[in-house]
Amino acid sequence: MTSNPNPETREAELKRRAGGRLTAPDIKRRKRSEPIVMLTAYTTRIAQLLDPHCDVLLVGDSVGMAVYGLPTTLPVSLDMMAAHGAAVVRGSKKALVVIDMPFRSYEEGPEQAFRSASWLLQETGAGAVKIEGGVELAPTVTFLEARGIPVMGHVGLTPQSVHTLGGYRARGRSNEDFSNILENAKALDEAGAFAIVIEAVVEALARSITDTVECPTIGIGACAQCDGQVLVVDDMLGLTEDTARFVKRYDDLAGRVDAAAAAYSASVRSRAFPERRNLY
Ligand code: KIV
Repeated sequence: MTSNPNPETREAELKRRAGGRLTAPDIKRRKRSEPIVMLTAYTTRIAQLLDPHCDVLLVGDSVGMAVYGLPTTLPVSLDMMAAHGAAVVRGSKKALVVIDMPFRSYEEGPEQAFRSASWLLQETGAGAVKIEGGVELAPTVTFLEARGIPVMGHVGLTPQSVHTLGGYRARGRSNEDFSNILENAKALDEAGAFAIVIEAVVEALARSITDTVECPTIGIGACAQCDGQVLVVDDMLGLTEDTARFVKRYDDLAGRVDAAAAAYSASVRSRAFPERRNLY
């Protein structure tokens, strides 16, 4: 692994931009430099809380499962992504906001992808989109980049393909799968993706991709050597019931919500709430 000859830290980037937002080119320059911090966000208030700590806020199509209780990400629509994308842009000032292109909004080809992505950026004010796939999407990435739309790639476990993959298992265990995923990452990189998410692959594959591609890699169940890391915010906060092995919980919000709801319930039933100071 060679080191970036011109590393620029997030602090330096923010100073240079005089308080403005990080951009896709800023993130691209972070290869082999200060690790990129990315979390998903779906609402304005959570975006406000995460923004000071994150370089990238991803409005993931995981919103479908985390917020709407859908069984997969497949039913998520462009309208849902636009509504949550606009909410996250309103709640943030510094992070680059990236919006997932939902299933069925880009797979037909570059023109369809441009229509969907340009609409998402117009509706929300976000700075980039993310798509799942590899070699087959390389022409789409080049088409979008050439027309002013920065694209983040996503390889490995790609949840929009759950039906062809046959589940949410980690990938890259066979030699064939390993080399296919590496080829996918190379194709997205050569096509102009400014960064690539690597999800749930064997560690050696994540290291190979990170060493091979020019753009930064952002891992989720990948490897510690990736140029950045991402988690779904509900998983990281301990709100989600079942989580994958790659999740680290930094809090137990589910337990805290349960305790707060129990305390509220008890005080309403005992007429201890409202108190005098809550009345007009
Ligand atoms: O939708 C999402 O939250 C994602 C992350 C898991 C990278 O794509």
